[in-house]
Amino acid sequence: MELTVDTRAIAKIEADALVTYAFDQEKPTEGILGRLDEATGGALGKLAASGELTGKMLETTLLYYPAGLTAQRLLVLGAGKKSKFGTAELRRLAAAAVRALKSRQVKSIAFLARENDRSAEAAQAIVEGMILANFDSDKYKTDKKPGNEIISAALAGWEESARAEADLGLARGRIIGESQNFARELGNEPSNKLTPRLLADRAAAMAREAGLSVEVFDENKIAELKMGALLSVAQGSAEPPRMIIMTYTPATAKPGAPVLGLVGKAITFDTGGISIKPANDMEKMKYDMCGGAAMIGAMRAIAALKPQCKVIAVIPSSENMPGGRAQKPGDVQFSMAGKSIEVINTDAEGRLVLADGIAYAKQLGCTHLVDAATLTGAVVIALSNVNVGVFGSDQSFTDQLLASAKVAGEKMWPMPLDDDYREMIKSGIADIQNVGSGKGGGAITAAMFLKEFTGDTPWIHLDIAGTAWQDDTKPWNAKGATGVAVRTLVDLAMKFGGDGGSAT
Ligand code: BES
Ligand code: ZN
Ligand code: ZN
Repeated sequence: MELTVDTRAIAKIEADALVTYAFDQEKPTEGILGRLDEATGGALGKLAASGELTGKMLETTLLYYPAGLTAQRLLVLGAGKKSKFGTAELRRLAAAAVRALKSRQVKSIAFLARENDRSAEAAQAIVEGMILANFDSDKYKTDKKPGNEIISAALAGWEESARAEADLGLARGRIIGESQNFARELGNEPSNKLTPRLLADRAAAMAREAGLSVEVFDENKIAELKMGALLSVAQGSAEPPRMIIMTYTPATAKPGAPVLGLVGKAITFDTGGISIKPANDMEKMKYDMCGGAAMIGAMRAIAALKPQCKVIAVIPSSENMPGGRAQKPGDVQFSMAGKSIEVINTDAEGRLVLADGIAYAKQLGCTHLVDAATLTGAVVIALSNVNVGVFGSDQSFTDQLLASAKVAGEKMWPMPLDDDYREMIKSGIADIQNVGSGKGGGAITAAMFLKEFTGDTPWIHLDIAGTAWQDDTKPWNAKGATGVAVRTLVDLAMKFGGDGGSAT
């Protein structure tokens, strides 16, 4: 999608559709809405009076060939209550506009920001929303209608004096939106098109293009490093595992400065192994690599936005299959960190591969860790498909991440990690076991297992099992992989490095 800033007067904006938004019960008499009402010969006022234009969130009012405008259509979206309106809502409106219009064969749009939405942050949110909405999960359809997408989008409403703000937001929004779509593309790939080897190839190709350094460990190197937990998951599969390491180093890296580590679970298909899953819904387990994909997407954006801190992504990747050589319930494995693990259930494989990922990230010198994983069905019971479960060992680091999630418009909710839960992962014959004994708390005992490998390093675990995949298309985005956590992680990395960064 071609993106520009258009500072022309409203009546002069050329586009297939001009888009703006009206708040709940707002009368179109002043400011931009007043001017649009005039340009349309009072049409907006009449629609408001008749009760058709109410400003209810996501309401769509579409006018064709408005006489006083150069644009061929005018779309007014409902923005809901003004008091509840922020950048998250703005992102969603821009996205909804793209989806509503692209299905009508509209090719060019101009999104007219309202009077209070003329900051770089607002421009960024609008652009992110538009890019995310222009994405569809149709890669393998052979009967695709050509060009069912918006080709050019303009940010309108900015004065010439605010152009620099708009440009900055546009540049950041484009990088982040495209990087989130990159993660979504990976998440949507079926497992026969995205094995651990192919995931590593895709990550390495992106890293080279983005200017990140990248290393991929094969099964021999993984064995040499004694990553026994990762190997135990891979041993049931004909496909070998991979460990992907991507590094962003800032131009002015100070010795002793904090290093952010991003560890992502990338199980390219999770059958459950010998503790096999039921057939129903098993096809969705191709998205069990979305934690890894989120880290790869975040690194793509980080490479372009250039925060001041060093960032290392560590992505353990494997299939989880019930082969003749597969590990069996009751087996004991040794992780890279030296801890012994009793594998009670082979379907709790994510925490096994992450144990070695976390240990390796620490060995590389990461001073702060964030992991993302489609780790448990239990987090879906706790938070449904709405919030990411956030488990943190360090309050101030966790608060930083939750603040970034707010800015990024990604819903995340803090979860407990009391030492009491530690009892539940004690094993009779090894140091720990890979499932919790006792009733409930499955998302917490999984996090507790990971915590064992983090030591004193401040660490946050994001359980994205409920939020990494969307079964249905929404008015603002397509079904399939969501790319959740990319925007939050990028915001965190930018601020972690003492903000700044250079978007362009
Ligand atoms: N990949 C699954 C978790 C999952 C479930 C992701 C639903 C997305 C949607 C994970 O490897 C798993 O199978 N976890 C088990 C753990 C259990 C055996 C302790 C679970 O949650 O059932
Ligand atoms: Zn599993
Ligand atoms: Zn899994």
